Amino acid sequence: MSTPIDFEILDKEYKKNAQSNDMSSLYYDGIFYDLFESNAVGSIKHSDDMQFWLNIAREYGNSILELGSGTGRIAGFLAEAGFDITGLEISESMLSIAKTKYSKIRWIHADACDFDLNQKFPLIIFPYNGMLHIHSDKLKYCFSSVKNHIESDGKFVIDIANPSLSLLLKISQSQGERLAAIFEDPKGTGIVVVSQEVDYDAANQILTNKRIYRFVGSGREVCDIFKRRIYFPQEIETLLRWSGFEIEKKYGDYDLSLFTSDAPQQLIVCKLSL
Ligand SMILES: C[S@@+](CC[C@H](N)C(=O)[O-])C[C@H]1O[C@@H](n2cnc3c(N)ncnc32)[C@H](O)[C@@H]1O
Repeated sequence: MSTPIDFEILDKEYKKNAQSNDMSSLYYDGIFYDLFESNAVGSIKHSDDMQFWLNIAREYGNSILELGSGTGRIAGFLAEAGFDITGLEISESMLSIAKTKYSKIRWIHADACDFDLNQKFPLIIFPYNGMLHIHSDKLKYCFSSVKNHIESDGKFVIDIANPSLSLLLKISQSQGERLAAIFEDPKGTGIVVVSQEVDYDAANQILTNKRIYRFVGSGREVCDIFKRRIYFPQEIETLLRWSGFEIEKKYGDYDLSLFTSDAPQQLIVCKLSL
């Protein structure tokens, strides 16, 4: 029998540094991130948003800054479609995988809340829930960094989940550990079974993912916690407005359907307000 995992201890460790996630978490490990994403059980497939970003790039600019570029999924796709893209990412591990996959792209190791590239872009994007990693107190620094890097008529486009009642209900009803992904250990020890528990703290709007990676061959278990901040529709729009952005369009899904209460995503196109 393996020793039960004390998530309370992990949680206390997290709270010591409550404004940011622990970069040593396997979530921020580029190899494990890719393995998890491509072998996740029951989640949406990665490619769903690609056409959306291609349309945005075609409409708004051929020089693009992607915040939270991860292992290069979207930057690589847009570069192959002919766009000049710069990927900015906080995790060195994610960046090193991105560099291996797409060596010609310009990759920047920086925090989306504190960067200075001495350049302006017609289009800055923050895809695939990346902004949820930025908890409220730091978001204003992210928005001011974006403002310093956007052309006067440029666009800032974000993609974050819509915490609809149906999503929150689904989370609150899915108690306990569930199978989240299965893949081969890159070190060749056999399969890795990842299970996950999700908690939602409504008072602080924090979604906590607790993952256990079980390395079946060696019996090793690694426990991870990472937390994301949920932004409600009117809240994010107000924060954007108060930070000097004007919302031009808001879609609810990658097929460009309009934003409604039950939409899965909040896809917000904004520009600098005059
Ligand atoms: C869900 S992943 C998305 C990766 C990529 N954009 C994609 O769509 O495949 C979110 C990414 O944001 C990065 N990230 C989180 N906080 C960040 C920050 N403060 N500055 C820059 N990147 C950050 C994470 O390390 C992670 O790679």
